[in-house]
Amino acid sequence: MRKQEGLETADVVVVGGGVIGLAIARALAMRGAGRVFLIERTHPGAEASRAAAGMLAPQAEADGADAFFELACASRNLYPALADALREETGTDIELERTGTLYLAFTDEDEREIEHRFAWQRRAGLSVERLSGDEARGLEPCISTLVRSALRFPQDVQVENRRLIAALSASIEKRGVRLLVETNVESLIIERGRVAGVDTSRGVVSAPVVVVATGAWTSRLTSTDKAAPPLSIEPVRGQMLCFETNPALSARHVIYSPRGYIVPRLDGRLLAGTTAERAGFEKRVTAGGIQAITSHALEIAPAISDLPLVDSWAGLRPRAQDDWPVLGACSETEGLFYATGHYRNGILLAPLTGELIADEITTNITPPQLQAFSPDRFHLSTVGHVR
Ligand code: FAD
Ligand code: GLY
Repeated sequence: MRKQEGLETADVVVVGGGVIGLAIARALAMRGAGRVFLIERTHPGAEASRAAAGMLAPQAEADGADAFFELACASRNLYPALADALREETGTDIELERTGTLYLAFTDEDEREIEHRFAWQRRAGLSVERLSGDEARGLEPCISTLVRSALRFPQDVQVENRRLIAALSASIEKRGVRLLVETNVESLIIERGRVAGVDTSRGVVSAPVVVVATGAWTSRLTSTDKAAPPLSIEPVRGQMLCFETNPALSARHVIYSPRGYIVPRLDGRLLAGTTAERAGFEKRVTAGGIQAITSHALEIAPAISDLPLVDSWAGLRPRAQDDWPVLGACSETEGLFYATGHYRNGILLAPLTGELIADEITTNITPPQLQAFSPDRFHLSTVGHVR
């Protein structure tokens, strides 16, 4: 690839074409933010956003009602309108499947966990149902006879994340976003405390605003200002197995246990996950991963043992030190915004991340919902929450 200096000028550059960068680029284009460039090292959605299970499940995953939970529920609630809009704009159905999520208990400890979850969610006025083992099996006959009790979260749903990526990509192209694929951003250009663009494998793109949405690779991005504090985002590998189902195993709910989950897709595939491993940037599936995921999936639904395993993959979740996403303007560098660290919930959080980051850029006002997630929480010695 030939390197050309001074390639282009943009109003906003978004670095990273995962679900987060795509959602931000779309929201910027919808606000008329000028020339928006999205720069992606390979092609859109090639990394964690493709590997994900697509669960939109804040209630099944949260331990309590905090700023993160509120952000997650608010983003989940944007999905129906987003699905309609993307179908209209692009003709792609993102398969927002609204049957709901079951969370199963097999042991005394599991039962204590779901009891705790039921209690705080009821107190918070959330929609959650408590089921006996038989009631849960009545809804999903494939689940194990060893299930003692369960919770049902009717509003925790799922989306086909690969279709979501395709629809967002088509939408941004229609809306005039300039998509540069197979283009690596080598460094952020920072001059006298403000961002001036990015240096890429194809040359420089100058811009007064740059959004870093590079997922698990965020800490690898260098800048021309050596004094700028690096943001620490680590990759956490998640492996996934994919089975082909048959009529005897035709679950409709997403089904969790405290150890794993299964996700039935509308096309007859059944996903099973996952692992959470510190393995650096190594993305291959391992024998240990297959064994652990299989055993947790069989605990949920023993009939899975007869299903053909048709695919497997792994992705790298971007995790910040406190597990929370890193969102918004970086006060130390004018024009620099972060949207990374979405860890286990980037598909869920993408619609609201897009809206809030685009609002902050176009209005110059930080939305209150972003305050708890500011990148400044890591840089200022007096600030920081621990989760
Ligand atoms: P990515 O999708 O990784 O995108 C980052 C992009 O940046 C990549 O395409 C990369 O090529 C590009 N890039 C990086 N560096 C550069 C550079 N220097 N120049 C140009 N481009 C660059 N979340 C949910 O909400 N629900 C789920 O059910 C769920 N399940 C998951 C299951 C698994 C197994 C895994 C691994 C993750 C899961 N997640 C889930 C988490 C979710 O996938 C992530 O939080 C989300 O995809 C992060 O999106 P992203 O755009 O930040 O990162
Ligand atoms: N949120 C599901 C996962 O990260 O595996």
